[in-house]
Amino acid sequence: MEESLRWALLCTFICLTIGLTHCGVTYDGKSLVIDGHRRILFSGSIHYPRSPPEMWEGLIQKAKDGGLGAIDTYVFWNVHEPYPGNYNFEGRYDLVRFIKIVRDAGLYAHLRIGPYICGEWNFGGFPVWLKFVPGISFRTDNQPFKLAMMKFTQKIVDMMKAERLFHSQGGPIILSQIENEYEPDRKVLGEAGNAYMNWAAKIAVGLGTGVPWVMCKEDDAPDPVINTCNGFYCDYFSPNKPYKPTMWTEAWTGWFTEFGGPIYQRSVEDLAFAVARFIQKGGSFVNYYMYHGGTNFGRTAGGPFIITSYDYDAPIDEYGLVRQPKYGHLTDLHRAVKLCERALLNANPVAVPLGSYEQAHVFSSASGGCAAFLTNYHTNLVARVSFRNRKYDLPPWSISILPDCINEVFNTAKVRQGKTVFQYLTASTGLKSWESFEEEVSFTEEDSTVSATGLLEQLNMTRDATDYLWYTTRVNVGPSELARGRRPILRVQSAGHAVHAFINGRLSGSASGTRDKRRFNFDVNVNLHAGDNQISLLSLTVGLPNQGSHFETYRAGILGPVTLEGLGHGTRDLSGQRWSYRVGLKGESMSLHMPNSAHSGSWMHESTMMQKQRPLTWYRAYFDAPVGAEPLALDMKSMGKGQVWIDGQSIGRYCTTVAMGYCSSCSYSDTYRPARCQSQCGDPTQRWYHVPRSWLKPTGNLLVVFEEIGGDASGIALVRRSAVVV
Ligand code: GAL
Repeated sequence: MEESLRWALLCTFICLTIGLTHCGVTYDGKSLVIDGHRRILFSGSIHYPRSPPEMWEGLIQKAKDGGLGAIDTYVFWNVHEPYPGNYNFEGRYDLVRFIKIVRDAGLYAHLRIGPYICGEWNFGGFPVWLKFVPGISFRTDNQPFKLAMMKFTQKIVDMMKAERLFHSQGGPIILSQIENEYEPDRKVLGEAGNAYMNWAAKIAVGLGTGVPWVMCKEDDAPDPVINTCNGFYCDYFSPNKPYKPTMWTEAWTGWFTEFGGPIYQRSVEDLAFAVARFIQKGGSFVNYYMYHGGTNFGRTAGGPFIITSYDYDAPIDEYGLVRQPKYGHLTDLHRAVKLCERALLNANPVAVPLGSYEQAHVFSSASGGCAAFLTNYHTNLVARVSFRNRKYDLPPWSISILPDCINEVFNTAKVRQGKTVFQYLTASTGLKSWESFEEEVSFTEEDSTVSATGLLEQLNMTRDATDYLWYTTRVNVGPSELARGRRPILRVQSAGHAVHAFINGRLSGSASGTRDKRRFNFDVNVNLHAGDNQISLLSLTVGLPNQGSHFETYRAGILGPVTLEGLGHGTRDLSGQRWSYRVGLKGESMSLHMPNSAHSGSWMHESTMMQKQRPLTWYRAYFDAPVGAEPLALDMKSMGKGQVWIDGQSIGRYCTTVAMGYCSSCSYSDTYRPARCQSQCGDPTQRWYHVPRSWLKPTGNLLVVFEEIGGDASGIALVRRSAVVV
């Protein structure tokens, strides 16, 4: 057993036996107080469902080696309770196992129960069934919502207690979060928002975990709940009471992205500067969001249009590989700050000007010794400063750390590590022999899930069990209505997120909204013939929004109007006529993605000259696991948009839309240096998709792809991700 773990357990045991009051976790104006001791803590977000359990131990060990003392995770309500009262804590969702691995590594845990989490996760972590609870109104003073939230929160706390995982019981959890980023919503909601926030704090504290609760980004968090900060920089932040510690529960290491958007990077120099700047102002807890981002497997990505990779430019990449210099430079920073810990915890900083852009923050006391942070706020110029009769050269926008007020052991802009170059190398696997299955485009009223007059809302129909909902109707066109040489225009108004339009079984066009503008209008010229025509609109959701309040009002799909223009009698409104609906794809109902699907005989062998650009087509092929240990990915560049499964498990949604952005420059935040730079413009936002090695058998793995628009499946390749530091 780890020395630190043995010590923690012994400490708690003694505490509990002799009834000391300082057992477990409390706080004061300086820091969290763990087993009677103030602590400076670095923590990192690693979300358990975003990596297979086989990776957890390695990730947590790397976090520990990187100088972290705690791991932070949200709790993902919608994967745990897919149906009301029906719980799932298996596999990637085994929260208890995850927390026990954190414990066994000798680290602490911060459990962000939420249960609203945002997190670029489908519906912000809410189960979609919650939307249909009668009378519900999300994240406000509403009885049905509060009842459901209380029940789930209690369930999680009880699970943790049963396994003795709170630190007050000798376990690793030193901190918990209730709600998330509620402040903006509370302000909009007014009284109801205040009442809900106070209620949330009260029930959380009432659960008696013996460890403090926080609210991230909620400046009015009521006592004893601690308000904490999130952002790229948090040095401006102070807790709402002098007796609460200054905590940064989300220090953004990079950023997420959306299909069609650029990839964001944050330089480690800027990140280290931000962290040192927070510590020098008296901050005592920093959690990196994300330390390892991982993957939005299956249909878990939020949105709409959040990509499958949640790499986040984090210190440990999506595949579990260390990203240098981010990882190493932060490790050095943590070591330097640790050397100052006694001084930081025993004195308040005194700011001393050293020049117009230069400043020292000095922590000095009889009991804690002396530590100093020397800062150069100038963004371009090196500064030579004099501090206690010695000279120091400070690079632009940097902080030097002097744990004894004399010797510089670290400067945030002086990076010693090389840079990791990630490459994708081919892996020979035998992905050659392809079969296909054409999805059904037309269906009759008898085949439909439901037929109705008018247009129906999508989530009400699908309950988010699938991305897909078919809207089908018929139009009869008289020969005289078709003006020669002109094609009528089909106009579709959608509440989101995308649509593929088929006329008489042929794809006429596709359109989609964006993450910020989900609603869109779609105009397409269509080929109609005289007589009866079938119009089939395949409407899609691409990850449900994860931000905001009042999730009960969220609507998707084709809400109309749908019109045809350019026919003989002007515009024909189709919205109010009879529509047939089918929830999901035929292939989904046949479980074509499963290895032992009963419909295995329905697949057609593909010739070597595969027909490309065929919409709505399922492809499958078998492959062997490449030897070696490097992480694996699928190169999907030859495809359009769809989903991928391996041996029945979903890798996630893929989409090869090209990224648009400002890759030539870095985006500036208001008053600081560039927080984020962009890359990938002109190439698909996401071309490679993580295939966890632990999912594979040595031979005969089944790869299934569902392509919506058209692509060349023979171009799909399994590749190895390699990391070389240069
Ligand atoms: C925060 C939020 C996180 C995540 C982050 C952006 O405001 O609390 O859950 O969404 O933004 O990655």
